[in-house]
Amino acid sequence: MDRGFLPVADILKLSTLTDGPGIGDVLCSIDDIENGEAKELSFRSRNELYDIFIQKHDGNIYAYVNVCPHAGTPLNMEEGRFMEKSGKYLMCHTHGALFQLDDGLCVAGPCNGARLQAVAIKVEKSLILVA
Ligand code: FES
Repeated sequence: MDRGFLPVADILKLSTLTDGPGIGDVLCSIDDIENGEAKELSFRSRNELYDIFIQKHDGNIYAYVNVCPHAGTPLNMEEGRFMEKSGKYLMCHTHGALFQLDDGLCVAGPCNGARLQAVAIKVEKSLILVA
């Protein structure tokens, strides 16, 4: 259903970016990220910049492109801070949209029903790798 939000592929595979990291390359260690916070990384491919974040929450890891589907702004205002106060949802600070952690679905706000673009990662031992 076209709701007028920014169109995105379901998942970003960093390995498909020109000059991007390869499958299995290490993005960071789980221990690099405090619980409830995120690690931000950027990749340049041709003339495009891809900003992603890797969120740690209750021992789980989630990775998304840092672009709100409402108006295309970065979600956060402070480095590594993407969660709203309750610690349950990711939040866009521009207009307050809330997103589920596990699938990036917007459940409240102006882009309700749209999704964040996930980033393909895998966790092996305590390392977060490109998948
Ligand atoms: S830009 Fe994110 S809610 Fe409007």
